[in-house]
Amino acid sequence: MSNTGFFLSFEGIDGAGKSSHLDALAAALRQAGHTVTLTREPGGTPLAEQLRHLLLHHAMDAHTEALLAFAARRNHVCQVIAPALARGEVVISDRFSDATFAYQGAGRGFDLETLSILERIAQTDIGLEADLLLEPHLTLWFDLAPDVAAQRLVGTRVPDRFEAQPAEFFRRVAQGYADRAAAAPQRFARIDAAQERAAVWQQVMAVFAQRG
Ligand code: TYD
Repeated sequence: MSNTGFFLSFEGIDGAGKSSHLDALAAALRQAGHTVTLTREPGGTPLAEQLRHLLLHHAMDAHTEALLAFAARRNHVCQVIAPALARGEVVISDRFSDATFAYQGAGRGFDLETLSILERIAQTDIGLEADLLLEPHLTLWFDLAPDVAAQRLVGTRVPDRFEAQPAEFFRRVAQGYADRAAAAPQRFARIDAAQERAAVWQQVMAVFAQRG
């Protein structure tokens, strides 16, 4: 199923600026004739949006965070992502599993091997070959130094539970993303998010040009 469509995720620490390019990329791909499903995590379905609200605003330990993140993902994958890929669409998700490895794993210190087991539960057996793990075909990783990202967020909005974390948390999350990218260099495309917005957009376009 996942081979018929194209699954793209956007990742990066809070304040890296990925969100401002999501709509533009969806528009560019639609312009090029693709049908695009633009979605986000946690969220993307009514149930998962409720779990998002809990994750972002209610105190809980790292285990609960990880379980809720994967529960939301499972629902999102089954109801939105897999069906859209089966229809041959491009799916763009604002975050996917790499965020759980970066935030709950590297950031909170939740065991990475256990996360891999949860990932397998959430992202297999979705009407494809039973053991095929659904992963993005391409992940745009908006990489920005945590102190610069924090500066960008100052005064922009009321911080949620994650945005309110100290700088040290975001240093660990940033390292978590770097580790994920190093482990899957074919899937990850690093975007230098320190550049100004137009230059970041050029990089996004260049990734698609390079990868056809
Ligand atoms: P984000 O995607 O940055 O949305 P917005 O721009 O509207 O704030 O917010 C989602 C937050 O959830 C972000 O801080 C990362 C966090 N998160 C996790 O901790 N684990 C996950 O698995 C996912 C998908 C997100």
